[in-house]
Amino acid sequence: MDSQFDTTVAAYERSMEAMPFREHVEAHSFLNAVGDIEGRDVLDLGCGSGLYARLLRRAGAARVAGMDESAAMVDHARRREAREGLGVEYLAADLADPAAGDLPGIAGAFDLVTAVYVLPYAPSREALEGFCATARRALRPTGGRFVAAVLNPEFCTDPEWYRGYGMLLSARQAPAEGTPGHMRAWVGPDVLDLDFFRWSAAAHERALESAGFDRVSWIRPTVSEQGRARYGDEFWANYLSCPHALIVDAQAGPRAELGD
Ligand SMILES: C[S@@+](CC[C@H](N)C(=O)[O-])C[C@H]1O[C@@H](n2cnc3c(N)ncnc32)[C@H](O)[C@@H]1O
Repeated sequence: MDSQFDTTVAAYERSMEAMPFREHVEAHSFLNAVGDIEGRDVLDLGCGSGLYARLLRRAGAARVAGMDESAAMVDHARRREAREGLGVEYLAADLADPAAGDLPGIAGAFDLVTAVYVLPYAPSREALEGFCATARRALRPTGGRFVAAVLNPEFCTDPEWYRGYGMLLSARQAPAEGTPGHMRAWVGPDVLDLDFFRWSAAAHERALESAGFDRVSWIRPTVSEQGRARYGDEFWANYLSCPHALIVDAQAGPRAELGD
């Protein structure tokens, strides 16, 4: 399937090093939220070039699978896997279609599902619910967690706010659900232009609930000690006072049919 991400593989691969907030705020906060995954089976939705799939495997997960609709991203992630042999599997699929969660080897097979910056690309409420349903179907029938980094519904609409961190975000003030927005990011020599959709906290929570997640908490990012030491607290102050992304930690209990 053609995707706006097909031409962004190289930039994504570079982005952890080229954008300090990715390493020192995002990855630090996301992996903290995920917690101990030693011996767990983890599915990374919208894995892109495989950045988080590799980090999750290195953090001790027993099995890691990454899924993405961009053929270019999946091809790249597989080529890296062939070189590095970490044991991460990659599959191409449209994750907004809940049937992706029913695929053999995916359905009911994971303790944890993750998704970093994937839900903001849901163009409709159905797609948002579809992503969450895919996550729930991939989790064990007995339950599990879905941890996602999403666009902060209250991100700062001053377009300059995130420029110091290599991003420029534009979107209407007081938007309706699913209003399109745009992000430009500078990643080393590359400029990324991405269209996203803005969903409220309530829209995320409804989509998660409709998929069977019954406990949802929102986590604000923090900065790593290394990031503070290297760049100083003043550098991070704007970002932390109004981060462009938050982490949603959603838990699902046993599937209803198990209780029947
Ligand atoms: C902003 S990138 C994030 C990539 C990766 N998670 C990371 O943090 O580096 C969003 C990814 O979600 C994928 N994506 C967006 N919509 C999707 C869909 N409907 N099905 C599968 N993947 C999707 C894109 O192809 C892209 O690789």
